[in-house]
Amino acid sequence: MLSLALLVLAAQCAASTTAASSSYTVAAGWYASWHVTDVPLSSVLWSKYTHMTYAFAIPTVDPSSISLAESDEELLPQFVAAAQQNTTGLSIGGWTGSQYYSSNLASATNRTAFVKSVTALITKYDLDLVDFDWEYPGVQGIGCNIVSPSDPENFLLMLQELRASPIAANVTLTAATAVTPFPATNASTIPQIAQALDWIVPMVYDLSWNWTAGSPREQRALPAAPLNDSCYTATPGATGVGLAGRGSAVSAVEAWSAAGFPRSQIVLGVPAYGHSFNVNASMAYLNGTSSPAQLAPYPLYDTLNHTVGDAWDGTGGTDQCGVYEGPGGIWDFWALVDAGFLLANGSVASGVPYRWDACSSTPYLYMADRGVLVSYTDPQSFAAKGAFVRANGLPGFAMWEVGGDPNGVLLDAIRACVSPGL
Ligand SMILES: *[C@@H]1O[C@H](CO)[C@@H](O)[C@H](O)[C@H]1NC(C)=O
Ligand SMILES: *[C@@H]1O[C@H](CO)[C@@H](O)[C@H](O)[C@H]1NC(C)=O
Ligand SMILES: *[C@@H]1O[C@H](CO)[C@@H](O)[C@H](O)[C@H]1NC(C)=O
Ligand SMILES: *[C@@H]1O[C@H](CO)[C@@H](O)[C@H](O)[C@H]1NC(C)=O
Ligand SMILES: *[C@@H]1O[C@H](CO)[C@@H](O)[C@H](O)[C@H]1NC(C)=O
Ligand SMILES: *[C@@H]1O[C@H](CO)[C@@H](O)[C@H](O)[C@H]1NC(C)=O
Ligand SMILES: *[C@@H]1O[C@H](CO)[C@@H](O)[C@H](O)[C@H]1NC(C)=O
Ligand SMILES: *[C@@H]1O[C@H](CO)[C@@H](O)[C@H](O)[C@H]1NC(C)=O
Ligand SMILES: *[C@@H]1O[C@H](CO)[C@@H](O)[C@H](O)[C@H]1NC(C)=O
Ligand SMILES: *[C@@H]1O[C@H](CO)[C@@H](O)[C@H](O)[C@H]1NC(C)=O
Repeated sequence: MLSLALLVLAAQCAASTTAASSSYTVAAGWYASWHVTDVPLSSVLWSKYTHMTYAFAIPTVDPSSISLAESDEELLPQFVAAAQQNTTGLSIGGWTGSQYYSSNLASATNRTAFVKSVTALITKYDLDLVDFDWEYPGVQGIGCNIVSPSDPENFLLMLQELRASPIAANVTLTAATAVTPFPATNASTIPQIAQALDWIVPMVYDLSWNWTAGSPREQRALPAAPLNDSCYTATPGATGVGLAGRGSAVSAVEAWSAAGFPRSQIVLGVPAYGHSFNVNASMAYLNGTSSPAQLAPYPLYDTLNHTVGDAWDGTGGTDQCGVYEGPGGIWDFWALVDAGFLLANGSVASGVPYRWDACSSTPYLYMADRGVLVSYTDPQSFAAKGAFVRANGLPGFAMWEVGGDPNGVLLDAIRACVSPGL
């Protein structure tokens, strides 16, 4: 039964343009295997997802061996069994698992070995879907990945070879991508990748930072998962460094479709988590406002002074590249509820300073006692993204990660807007 709040959301969605039809309906989620203790398979809301993908298998230095050692070789078959007939998949790569993608695909011999490893996984685990989460073809990710300008073309060649295999012919093939298209030198590469894949998922999250080398130490705390970013500068007080241009749902769909990926094959990546920033009170509030003081748009923060996030966030450590990384500052949706900043239905708790950012369609809240500002997503943001999905004729959404929203509060909000039939 729909709650009153969902009926209100559904009424808002109905105002959006009816979508051009797509051959898919996708309400997908990634299951992060390392959170199994907090998110047992029995707690997963299987029936609310059309596709559920297990993260991660990792390409090794040897293309004939894609490893499940760092996740859990025993858990994957349990995951597939728990799903019953629901569609299940395996994601290969991830932020820390993309070191050897490039060399695995760099020669015909290696691609053939890699394709064999993928089809072996499909057979062994009875997979319906394989997701390539290569971060990123032709672009450095964590810092020590092998990267080549031929990555996009080699990715295409591997996908074509995989598709030609009877084992993979009918398996759903997807890729998690950046908000900008692969830097292919040949304009026909991306349209051909679209033919080989079922869909891509631009990951419209983690977009608060300027990644460029030499970017300023003090930056503005921008929305982590914006619907739109081209309107930031129009907001009063939001001038200065670091505005706009890091991507959003709007920019990602425009860029990928301009590069030759049809909208009917672009699934919107949405996060069940937000990001926090150390923002002192003199920056956090608009001067001259009181009782209650209003939060300033996009305040400056020190990018080198990392905040610690929730219980799932690391405290920092040396990564696989040998570089020290501070804590991620991640606040999952469940943790904002647990800590009392949000109510169970995603509304902000009484007395918590809050700002709705109209450009990004995402909210901020301020943990005043700690001097921590959080850019997060709530049911209203998810409803806005669902309406965008529908208005643009996208097949649906994919959420990282299902455990972030254990009760399906965000999920229900976007599902109600993506497709009334879901
Ligand atoms: C969320 O729950 C609170 C407390 O029950 C209620 O007052 C509020 O109206 C709810 N918000 C929405 C959007 O349903
Ligand atoms: C999907 O999973 C749910 C929960 O386990 C189950 O009730 C439902 O029957 C499954 N659907 C299919 C098609 O197997
Ligand atoms: C192919 O894989 C091997 C490891 O089996 C690796 O040593 C080699 O560099 C790879 N080839 C290319 C062109 O990257
Ligand atoms: C793939 O699906 C098509 C259409 O449903 C079917 O004709 C074909 O036999 C399937 N191929 C394999 C290898 O399962
Ligand atoms: C681009 O790719 C197509 C198809 O693979 C190929 O026919 C064409 O020669 C390529 N163009 C260039 C400039 O490499
Ligand atoms: C995004 O922002 C631009 C600039 O303000 C505006 O023209 C456009 O309509 C917005 N798009 C959406 C989907 O909100
Ligand atoms: C990121 O930082 C670089 C280097 O300072 C600067 O040139 C660029 O304008 C910045 N971009 C954004 C979107 O802030
Ligand atoms: C408020 O005023 C103080 C003192 O002039 C200044 O340092 C601070 O940056 C201002 N805060 C904002 C959000 O503009
Ligand atoms: C507040 O934060 C800003 C931005 O990081 C910094 O420039 C300023 O020195 C800080 N003020 C205090 C009192 O810590
Ligand atoms: C980092 O921010 C915290 C909270 O605003 C502050 O107490 C601390 O002094 C800052 N550390 C550095 C190294 O700037």
